[in-house]
Amino acid sequence: MKITVIGLGYLGATHAVAMAKLGHEVIGIEPDDAKRESLAKGELPFYEPGLDKALVEVIKQGNIDFKRSHDEGSKAAELHFICVGTPQKIGSNEADTKYLFSAIEGLAPQLSEDSVVVGKSTVPVGTAADLTAYLANLTGFEPKLAWNPEFLREGTALEDSLNPDRIVIGTEDDFAEQKIREVYKPITDQYNTPILITDIPTSELVKAAANSFLATKISFINAMAEIAEVSGADTVKLAEAIGMDERIGKQFLRNGIGFGGGCLPKDIRGLIARAEQLGVGQAVGFLTEVDEINLRRRSRVTELAVNELDDPKGKKIAVLGAAFKPDSDDLRDSPALSIALELANKEAQVFIHDPEAYEQLSKNQPTLHAREDISEVLKDAELVILGTEWKQYKALDPAKLSVKNKTMIDGRNVLNREAWEKAGWKLISLGRG
Ligand SMILES: NC(=O)c1ccc[n+]([C@@H]2O[C@H](COP(=O)([O-])OP(=O)(O)OC[C@H]3O[C@@H](n4cnc5c(N)ncnc54)[C@H](O)[C@@H]3O)[C@@H](O)[C@H]2O)c1
Repeated sequence: MKITVIGLGYLGATHAVAMAKLGHEVIGIEPDDAKRESLAKGELPFYEPGLDKALVEVIKQGNIDFKRSHDEGSKAAELHFICVGTPQKIGSNEADTKYLFSAIEGLAPQLSEDSVVVGKSTVPVGTAADLTAYLANLTGFEPKLAWNPEFLREGTALEDSLNPDRIVIGTEDDFAEQKIREVYKPITDQYNTPILITDIPTSELVKAAANSFLATKISFINAMAEIAEVSGADTVKLAEAIGMDERIGKQFLRNGIGFGGGCLPKDIRGLIARAEQLGVGQAVGFLTEVDEINLRRRSRVTELAVNELDDPKGKKIAVLGAAFKPDSDDLRDSPALSIALELANKEAQVFIHDPEAYEQLSKNQPTLHAREDISEVLKDAELVILGTEWKQYKALDPAKLSVKNKTMIDGRNVLNREAWEKAGWKLISLGRG
């Protein structure tokens, strides 16, 4: 099928490549020149395992084309996927939907009555209705607009797109439903992927609800960590014990410095804001607490660091990891980066390493000392903080690390306490009394 993918960030670039890999003819629309030109050259503008190779492959096959804005080519497309950002508004919890409206504005002249517009961005419930009215006004006919939320996880984005655990399609239009089923047919045929057809508001709410649930689970175990720290309990053991109950499950129960990234924080805040607008703010009042527990974990690490160093001013601190999660270079609302910046703010000399985010750090974080070589970050450090659980940090040999002071705050509870203590380190874990 001929399709357009509008907005080529983490979601859109992955979706465009995945669709091209399935054999569809894809036109990717991206106004950011640097991003688009990099993609057109076969160079992924961000780190995502496996996506770089797949991009080169689909370019070679001639299945993908990149454009700054729509042209005649878009008119022939049957489906138009909207993948633009919906960031948190500055000074408010609300999601900013302005990019969706501008994407719709650019798309409108290309549409015919048979075109299907498919939203994939995460949006406040009710957005699709506003977009439909806006689009109808621009086109002069009733547009076919469906919502198809995306559940990919950075780090495994391509695999998640090509083999999702479910496909949710919010539409009441049979033609739109058939077209979307057709585009995903290679996936559903191969993996028997369940397709859930819902009304549009449900499909909009699914993603915010899923992310709110996951965030709640993480903050739940981090709340237990706060209790453990003052009562002598061990949150790692606690999580193991409760996670064995299959109604609870083990995933998302590792305590640490909490969640971040471009989705979870803004999605829970967006849901709080939308529920308040709808007059049911109390329904998700608990999400404010989820957010606060999460942010308190970052302050806890800063507090531990200050306690260890007395006064951090002028002292060298090594922070291992900057991305919000391993296998990604996404620094948006990253707990590790936020801790590093907070300590730099207290005038510590913060040296930071990340296997994939070095360039972004050295370009955009002038108060931090980013280094490509981990030994330069560690050398003479008076304190080390593990902020992102990259596998190379988990594999570090504590006996071979050269620092000034062998003190490590394990922000992710991934280091082997026995091995580190045996090598002479003081290992400070979160959630252990
Ligand atoms: N990143 C993820 O893991 C992920 C997963 C699932 C869902 N989502 C959702 O997907 C959406 C996009 O997220 P992202 O992380 O890819 O954001 P992003 O900021 O990386 O990418 C958004 C892209 O849209 C482009 N854009 C803005 N206005 C445009 C327009 N009018 N026309 C065409 N392109 C335009 C921007 O230049 C940018 O490249 C968000 O709603 C997010 O919540 C993200």
